[in-house]
Amino acid sequence: MLGSKVGSNHLLSEQKSASVTAGGHRVQADPLAEFNPLPGRDTSVNSSADPEGQNRAVTTVDQTASYDAVNQPDAATGANGSRFVRACLRQQVDRTPVWFLRQAGRYMPEYMAVRKHHSLLEICRTPEIAAEVTITATERLGVDAAIIFADLLLPLTPMGLDFDFVANEGPQVNTPLRTLEQIRALRTDRTDDLLYVSRAIEKVVAHFSQPRSDGDQLGIIGFCGAPFTLASYMIEGGSSRNYIETKKLMYASHPERAQRVEGPRETLSHLSRSHLSATDSAFWPILMDKLVTVLTDYAAQQVAAGADVIQVFDSWVGALSPSDYRDYALAPTTSLIRNIQALGVPVIYFGVETATLLPLMRQTRCDVLGLDWRTPLDRTWRDLDYAVAVQGNLDPITLFAPPEVLERRVAEILAAAARRPGHIFNLGHGIVPGTPVDAVLQVVRQLKATE
Ligand code: CP3
Repeated sequence: MLGSKVGSNHLLSEQKSASVTAGGHRVQADPLAEFNPLPGRDTSVNSSADPEGQNRAVTTVDQTASYDAVNQPDAATGANGSRFVRACLRQQVDRTPVWFLRQAGRYMPEYMAVRKHHSLLEICRTPEIAAEVTITATERLGVDAAIIFADLLLPLTPMGLDFDFVANEGPQVNTPLRTLEQIRALRTDRTDDLLYVSRAIEKVVAHFSQPRSDGDQLGIIGFCGAPFTLASYMIEGGSSRNYIETKKLMYASHPERAQRVEGPRETLSHLSRSHLSATDSAFWPILMDKLVTVLTDYAAQQVAAGADVIQVFDSWVGALSPSDYRDYALAPTTSLIRNIQALGVPVIYFGVETATLLPLMRQTRCDVLGLDWRTPLDRTWRDLDYAVAVQGNLDPITLFAPPEVLERRVAEILAAAARRPGHIFNLGHGIVPGTPVDAVLQVVRQLKATE
């Protein structure tokens, strides 16, 4: 068992070094080359631009040889002996796998006991503690996957942006990004500073190296933010309601703002009077490019450490209209997801309030789409032609409902998924503080009873 995992990680490390140099995303000299900010002219997200899917080590049922070489389907051992990983790949499973977004967190007394003695960042940055928190939550709940305890914002530090978590206010970036000079100064060469997350993953992998009593291999999930959601924290400086600063800088990259775009004289003079100079058109593409570089490296570290699957959190992408998603977020997110898939692992792509974005999010060719609870699972999955696995999508606040109500809602989601291969049970967003642990345990029991 362990041998199989170590073996595949060796291959993954080799792949990693090949892909990071061959992928082309590292070319710092011309960050605009990959993310063409001109709407309608981007080809990287158009499936006809990559008809053979050469850029990815495919991880769905229509797998290519490159994926098979990394992860030989072997029902008894390794990642494919995990019902969670198999569901990500839309393979048959004995029962629907289950885990919970934010399964280690403030709702759990065991976590609060650790938090009493350590700050959130201390926990994240100390592999022994991060691993312990991850393992404790996974075992307490009896779920089918462990998500490494870390935070979305950790990559900001090696990029040169300091932040902290302020009690009751969430994360705060000390000097939010507003100028091109700040963007240019962002570092992409210090991602090794994040290796503490990989050390924690190694400990979790070692702990769960043996199959569980039911013969299943626990899935290990690494994660990172998506370019839009991370950019929103970097630019707004924290959580935001309207994302005004983020969208201003995003829109500034529109082709009509770029100096090189020719247009009627009146249009250009109107533009020059605007509050953003034409040079700001470079802001968004450079930021997206740098984020993809750092996040790819970060995910590669996690895969090399033994993560079976990477979840890309685009928690706040629902703030975008479909047109804005298509023009400003789709291409960099697709690059990131393809880069991660090229490491040989499936990718779960998750966002909230994404009902109108899901067809576009699907174009990233992620393996699994995370659905929030506002989206009816049956109709949504059908509209996606069942061509992608889905994860979700219980309203996290249902965990505060009486047991019968909770049971009924869980049953409805299972009925909507109709035991098709490729459903992972989860919440539509993270468990909130105050959630009764018993309610979470009830859901796990119900899922296990559907075997
Ligand atoms: O088991 C787990 O899933 C916990 C690991 C985890 C944390 N953050 C630890 C954490 C994960 C997967 C994250 C991801 C994360 N971080 C996201 C994406 C997930 C989502 O919910 O959409 C986001 C948006 C962040 C940024 C972040 N971190 C915010 C906005 C906050 C404050 C708000 C809140 O929920 O409290 C955090 C703090 C944070 N990160 C906590 C935990 C357990 C709670 C604070 C604490 O322990 O002091």
